[in-house]
Amino acid sequence: MSEVSARPALEAVRARRSWSKVTDAAPDAAELLELVAAAGRVADHSSLRPWRIIELRGDDRLALGAAIAKADGDDKPSTKPLRAPLLIAIVASYRDSGKVPHWEQEAVASGVAHVLSLLLDEAGWGVIWRTGHYTRSKAVAQAHGLGKHEELLGWLYVGGKPERSRPERRKAVDASGFVSRMPAVTTVPDQPSLPDQPSLPGEIAHWRNKPDKGKKHKKADKGEKKKAKKPDKG
Ligand SMILES: Cc1cc2nc3c(=O)[nH]c(=O)nc-3n(C[C@H](O)[C@H](O)[C@H](O)COP(=O)(O)O)c2cc1C
Repeated sequence: MSEVSARPALEAVRARRSWSKVTDAAPDAAELLELVAAAGRVADHSSLRPWRIIELRGDDRLALGAAIAKADGDDKPSTKPLRAPLLIAIVASYRDSGKVPHWEQEAVASGVAHVLSLLLDEAGWGVIWRTGHYTRSKAVAQAHGLGKHEELLGWLYVGGKPERSRPERRKAVDASGFVSRMPAVTTVPDQPSLPDQPSLPGEIAHWRNKPDKGKKHKKADKGEKKKAKKPDKG
């Protein structure tokens, strides 16, 4: 009997890999909907949902092959989209927002793609995220029916995991090479450091020294005191 993992997300991420070759089996529309609903739970500034997904199955892939050829100026359609039975186009669909710039919205769409790819892998499907220089071409955008406010982030190529595939050797990530602290601050312009504080960059030291800093808390404290003075009727 297999043990139930206490940290399934950690294990799913550690176990995942990309599958460049897949079989003709593919998740159906209902399964995909379930996984997309879960992937859509990624962090999303202002909950704009700035993304959408397009399923390419069967002849849709021929249409994409033709669009790639058009973008490349080739006579023959590209056979690349035929490498998997299901292609999931990831679309960044930018919303009007004075607060959330496009790069943040693209980060959300990218997050959905990563999580969806992980969920598909965990569900037993082989996935690889692919792009190409034609990804943001006019011909490819037209084939997908993209609006002016939309951009493709590529496709998740999805299929069955072949049974007899070579075990992939994935390089471990040495996290210590990717995690650091902020660089040391050498000068603090015009701001003396507070006696009980380490040296701070000017802007932060300024904020800490602001005369009105903490006013709100003082007011709130007063309110509390007033309330406390009221005779207790109960
Ligand atoms: C935005 C994006 C675009 C990618 N485009 C391609 C691609 O066009 N062709 C390709 O072979 N891999 C592409 N990859 C990388 C693969 O999806 C995969 O992550 C990589 O081969 C490493 O394998 P692993 O995921 O098993 O570690 C892309 C990945 C990302 C995130």
